[in-house]
Amino acid sequence: MADIAHPAGGSVHGTETSRRDFLTLTAAALGGIGAASAIWPFLDSMNPAKDTLALSSTEVDLAPVQKGQRLTVVWRGKPVFIDHRPDEEIKKAQEVDVSSLRDPQPDSERVKKPEWLVVVGVCTHLGCIPLGQKATDDRGQFGGWFCPCHGSMYDTSGRIRQGPAPQNLAVPPYEFTSDTTIKIG
Ligand code: FES
Repeated sequence: MADIAHPAGGSVHGTETSRRDFLTLTAAALGGIGAASAIWPFLDSMNPAKDTLALSSTEVDLAPVQKGQRLTVVWRGKPVFIDHRPDEEIKKAQEVDVSSLRDPQPDSERVKKPEWLVVVGVCTHLGCIPLGQKATDDRGQFGGWFCPCHGSMYDTSGRIRQGPAPQNLAVPPYEFTSDTTIKIG
């Protein structure tokens, strides 16, 4: 049940997905960059110049990702969290009183399709990688992601709900190129 790394194109054609609670994908950017490591700050320092980055994009095949699964891909040296949200997660995200939020944003402005949430997986406090991609992870009180560094909690729309982080998890630029494929960047 090895994770699938697909450095050429970024597609995942998963096997044994029924036994997984998450998938990890290493997707090289089309511009020729892309690497995976748990040491994101180090990778950041190794990133190529901005003009090269501007060209980079990552295509992701979402077809193998079952409802309730979360997928991590790498885009421009950063983790991007893709959540195939089950109905209850969508409902929770939509029911929140937006005016009560630190970084007020309705869920509808953060997704292109309600069942797919795509966010940069970097805590907006000091840049740790929040937990929550595995079903067994601590996802905090709001069911999204929990950053153990200083206790920030994000909801099922990736919005900051508790802890020191000032902003919601960022939504990267992306588009659906087919029903089940997105291009990030
Ligand atoms: S870096 Fe996430 S809470 Fe501080």
